[in-house]
Amino acid sequence: MKLDILLGLQWGDEGKGKVVDYLAPKYDVVARFQGGPNAGHTLEFDGIKHVLHQIPSGIFRKDILNIIGNGVVLDPVIFKREIDALDKYNLDVKKNLYISKKTQLILPTHRLLDAAYEASKGKKKIGSTLKGIGPAYQDKIARLGLRVGDILSPSFKKKYEKLVEKHVQILEFYKAEYELKDLESEFFKAIDFLKEFQLIESEYKINDELKSGSKILAEGAQGSLLDVDFGSYPFVTSSNTTASGVCSGLGVAPNNIGEVYGIFKAYCTRVGSGPFPTELFDEDGVLMQKVGNEFGATTGRPRRCGWLDLPALKYAIMINGVTQLFMMKADVLNVFKKIKVCTSYKMENGDLINIMPYEIVDEKIEPVLHELDGWDCSLDNISDFEDFPKELKDYIFYLEKELSVPINMVSVGPDRTQTIIRAQVVA
Ligand code: GDP
Ligand code: IMO
Ligand code: MG
Repeated sequence: MKLDILLGLQWGDEGKGKVVDYLAPKYDVVARFQGGPNAGHTLEFDGIKHVLHQIPSGIFRKDILNIIGNGVVLDPVIFKREIDALDKYNLDVKKNLYISKKTQLILPTHRLLDAAYEASKGKKKIGSTLKGIGPAYQDKIARLGLRVGDILSPSFKKKYEKLVEKHVQILEFYKAEYELKDLESEFFKAIDFLKEFQLIESEYKINDELKSGSKILAEGAQGSLLDVDFGSYPFVTSSNTTASGVCSGLGVAPNNIGEVYGIFKAYCTRVGSGPFPTELFDEDGVLMQKVGNEFGATTGRPRRCGWLDLPALKYAIMINGVTQLFMMKADVLNVFKKIKVCTSYKMENGDLINIMPYEIVDEKIEPVLHELDGWDCSLDNISDFEDFPKELKDYIFYLEKELSVPINMVSVGPDRTQTIIRAQVVA
């Protein structure tokens, strides 16, 4: 069996949580391969909305195994809070959730460092979620980090203190003000809680599952345009959010990858700083934000909104090897008489290009927009692609022609049931 990947093609918040939850019954295992509590994945069913940060979005499907892979950075405090919040749903999380011993730990001082680094950047700040992601990955690459498996060692406390000593020196350099005592006591309580879970060598588990014919879905966090290598650096997150991150983040070989589901909103959003060529500053942007309820699932910050960006989407499709596209939040465009799509960029020197330029961070890039008719009506009660208004079908056909990848799923609302399947997604 091959492992399928689902990931976001824009700047995050495309609706990954909804689709993973929707597809999960077709899979035996759902695994997270990168990111950490910076993610906020929303699932809606039976009239209840759930937001998951570190726990894979297959958790509400009782027969599915969920794995937090080695490529993730895990904050035990946030983890405990998330698990506690699931208490009332009668899920057997200690049975259905495995955590890699190689997953890196986020320490309270990583969060403090994140805040200190951001404060020192002033106007050039990344707009980080301040969950300690950057500093934790920094320690991983510097070969200083602590891993989940370390909590089982009698010398864990000592290792912890050694690393914190280094962090404190940096915090002093930045003249950060903080109080560590309460944070530490909360952290060690959460570490004890973490010990109650199944801590495993997840690369063996995943490969064994594949060999025995299990179907595995890898759940991306963030979006391709926030990838540390291919995003608008330095306005990115600190992990490989793209398909290659699955191989290193779960221990799966490239020839074991099957489908790559690329999911995108019918428009674009971005939260935090960084370039966004199609960003709208007019009433259309305000309307998109309002109708789309575009407020961050992790930080509550308003998301910046703009039209769909084809050069950016084509880039993400190329980097990830996307085999199927899922278009989300089509219903948000119901209110627009005209819909616009960026087909190329006009550079400061007047050149027209249709690739993602290196200069995107420092130059003002103007989007060249193509206009299509909107459908200007509700999509409520539609359960079949054939019943979509003509203009929505035309929008989808236009995008498929431009992107050369089929759009097999269209989402028309936040609930599990508001999902239109156009072609069989999972074999
Ligand atoms: P993720 O990070 O990719 O999982 O996405 P988020 O959960 O951060 O943000 C997506 C938001 O859009 C959530 O509030 C979802 O409930 C909501 N959502 C998902 N799909 C749809 C859709 O088709 N229509 C509408 N209106 N909302 C959607
Ligand atoms: P999901 O999985 C949207 C953004 C932050 C900031 C930048 C770096 O819900 O799609 P970090 O905390 O990683 O140091 O922040 O990346 N960012 C996200 N934006 N969705 C996310 O996750 C994000 N995770 C990080 O806003 O601009
Ligand atoms: Mg999100």
